Amino acid sequence: MRGLLDAPMTSAVNIQNASGANRVTPHPIQPTGDQAGPWMGQNFLFKDPTFVKYLDNYDYKFCDDASKYEKLAKIGQGTFGEVFKAKNKQTKLTVALKKVLMENEKEGFPITALRELKILQLLDHENVVNLIEICRTKATQFNRYKSTFFLVFEFCEHDLAGLLSNVNVKFNLGEIKKVMQQLLNGLYFIHSNKILHRDMKAANILITKKGILKLADFGLARPFSMGQKNRYTNRVVTLWYRPPELLLGDRDYGPPVDLWGAGCIMAEMWTRSPIMQGNTEQHQLNLIVHLCGSITPEVWPNVESLELYSTMEIPKGQKRKVRDRLRNFVKDHNALELLDKLLTLDPAKRINADASLGHDFFWQDPLPQDLENMLKQHTQSMFEYYTPPRRPRGHQQPPHQHQQPHSHGHHPPHGHHHGPRHPHPPHARGAPHPQQQPMEGFHERVF
Ligand SMILES: Nc1ncnc2c1ncn2[C@@H]1O[C@H](COP(=O)(O)OP(=O)(O)OP(=O)(O)O)[C@@H](O)[C@H]1O
Ligand SMILES: [Mg+2]
Repeated sequence: MRGLLDAPMTSAVNIQNASGANRVTPHPIQPTGDQAGPWMGQNFLFKDPTFVKYLDNYDYKFCDDASKYEKLAKIGQGTFGEVFKAKNKQTKLTVALKKVLMENEKEGFPITALRELKILQLLDHENVVNLIEICRTKATQFNRYKSTFFLVFEFCEHDLAGLLSNVNVKFNLGEIKKVMQQLLNGLYFIHSNKILHRDMKAANILITKKGILKLADFGLARPFSMGQKNRYTNRVVTLWYRPPELLLGDRDYGPPVDLWGAGCIMAEMWTRSPIMQGNTEQHQLNLIVHLCGSITPEVWPNVESLELYSTMEIPKGQKRKVRDRLRNFVKDHNALELLDKLLTLDPAKRINADASLGHDFFWQDPLPQDLENMLKQHTQSMFEYYTPPRRPRGHQQPPHQHQQPHSHGHHPPHGHHHGPRHPHPPHARGAPHPQQQPMEGFHERVF
């Protein structure tokens, strides 16, 4: 496994088929560099009928034609592209097709999508979304011989953001435990495989109609290593779920960044909307301090050495109020205790996935309870995309705050289209989404 991750990224792509077998494309999916001539731009060869015929009939052995799927509906509008519900015409299997944005590509297949693909191939677990294959539209003269690529995922009926927005969806304590247990199981698995998710948020948590939770959206994920000083980008994780170490400029972070997100999501299971909805990085840090107490070397040894510790303003004299403030929503004392441990300021002291799973919260009555029965009452999919904003207050969204986290700049910071109702927080990867009013039947912000 390590070997796969350590290998340099090449444009030859490993593709895992439904049966799990690994197949390697013999050729680059999209010719790059020197090979790019006849495909991109210089289209003199397209005028040669023999060449055109060759292209039209070209069979990419390990990358099926997208026409084997019938698109049913658009179910998501991510920063990096659209997601469609679709059906395999032959097997009738329902899937999700995530379009790989190529608009800004000058150098072939986007490295960010390759990274997502490579990581998803590595991760095979019940609580991680299953990548079935990658497919492409046929390159024809009508698309200037540029294929569109799709990541094909097993379809999940719900995402957690959508479920939490809907007042009719009620989770009892046992069901909340089941959600968190599966989420932490997924994190335990990816962290054991030396992968950081780096974009934990309710919209990236999918749940099947059978009640199986899947961590999704590995678009910002990366491998990590320990025992050496790393210099990862800290421009990751959607602002509302971003841990204090990233806000303070840490570049040598690890799995605790995902556990902070898990803590925010766990609290949201009761509050039903994100608990810290900052407008700017400074505002986010203020919200964290007001909940978790002042950030000092006493509670967080060595915090002074973080790059932005002296640049950011850190409110002084704040007491930790995690339990006090959440007690209004969370009555279970084990839940409060676990939340307190997940929302620990110092990443070195923050509870990890393994220890969380051993916490009394999961082992005392009521025990984790299957979600299938509860979900049966909600046959309509509840994707965040279809639900109204989860930030009812009318304050102004901040301007775009971030450069792209990836140095390649493959994705436009602006200008992508948004779905009709999009309640997203300022995104790690792009501009925040437009402000809208809440609608009836959906949860208002209460925390
Ligand atoms: N396998 C799937 N089954 C059902 N819905 C899915 C699936 N994958 C993604 N979606 C829906 O599409 C949305 C966007 O997908 P994803 O998060 O992978 O893309 P993204 O472009 O990285 O999104 P964003 O930038 O908003 O985080 C998800 O929040 C979810 O609602
Ligand atoms: Mg997403």
